[in-house]
Amino acid sequence: MTNRQRFTNACRCQPVDRPPVWIMRQAGRALPEYRALKEKYSFLELVRTPELAAEVTLQPIRRFDFDAAIIFSDILVVPEALGQSYQFLEGKGIEMKPLQSAEDIGRLDTTAVCERLDYVSKALRLVRKSLGDRTALIGFAGAPWTLACFMLEGGGADDYTKARRLFYSDRPLFERLMEKLTGAVSAYLRMQIETGVDAVQIFDSLGGTLASDAFAAASGRWITEVVASLQSRVPVIVFSKGVNGNWRDLAATGAQVLGVDWTVRLSEVRARLPQNIGVQGNLDPLVLTTTPEIVAAETRRILNDMRGLTGHVFNLGHGLPPTASLENIAAMVDTIRTFA
Ligand code: CP3
Repeated sequence: MTNRQRFTNACRCQPVDRPPVWIMRQAGRALPEYRALKEKYSFLELVRTPELAAEVTLQPIRRFDFDAAIIFSDILVVPEALGQSYQFLEGKGIEMKPLQSAEDIGRLDTTAVCERLDYVSKALRLVRKSLGDRTALIGFAGAPWTLACFMLEGGGADDYTKARRLFYSDRPLFERLMEKLTGAVSAYLRMQIETGVDAVQIFDSLGGTLASDAFAAASGRWITEVVASLQSRVPVIVFSKGVNGNWRDLAATGAQVLGVDWTVRLSEVRARLPQNIGVQGNLDPLVLTTTPEIVAAETRRILNDMRGLTGHVFNLGHGLPPTASLENIAAMVDTIRTFA
């Protein structure tokens, strides 16, 4: 069984020899070869240059032979393609001019999103060619809700209040923004599917900022529209962090696989979902900053918990911390490969 088959089978809850594994943020600051490229190029230069984005995508595959590669990019390329540009400042993070009025939202231009993101198609084609049939390739986009949070704050924030306030106080304007984002994300993911990705992941990293009863209307509904527009052409993984009260809403999005953070037992989430929906996760990312012995023990705990169940894609419960050690990542992967 190739890595690619193992990954796609697990996404579809079909039999595998062992769970496939990849890591959210596997391409990036934990790797010395990524940091070396950052000496010469800025983050956005790496993202926007197809040859460089392809190279960064392949770096973790060469080192760890993960079952799947995720294209090196960022969720904020979609707001940028809509006309809200951003910068990544070393040590400071993301900065963009926040959306502050109905006029700002009205100006978002949905007419040429895919043309403006053509560099991502080019990078995907280069990566697909290098990977051949050996390794699966994952495309991605941010969920409309998570994108709206960043766009209204103008970058990262301690507490994402602006999108929630708009949701409660001006529903028609909130919906106008969400319709634009849903259309743009759908078109962008369809473009990625046309380049031959094996699956797409929708990152709703800020889904957990919502009240349980608000989740369906503020986030789930729009994810559902995106998933429907993709017409089951590839499996869709929906990762919504911190939403342990909303499994029913998440199952209703039409996702084939749900990403699960580290605060819940994976087998319990799997048991609550319809049999044909898989789970992805959920090692606490912090474990990768400890020791190989602890990593092996915690990895085995999750594998034992999921023993005998189909539909498990091994991953962390959120992104790889920049301080994770390479020997700890290797210990996690070896434990999964040799698990019996
Ligand atoms: O998973 C991968 O390896 C693919 C690449 C990837 C990046 N960002 C590269 C990146 C993916 C899938 C993302 C998604 C993303 N981007 C999310 C959702 C996932 C999550 O982590 O919750 C979000 C919220 C963003 C927006 C974003 N991009 C933020 C908030 C930041 C700054 C904070 C941070 O973690 O550094 C980024 C920058 C970013 N995106 C880096 C990388 C490798 C760091 C750039 C660097 O320091 O070189």
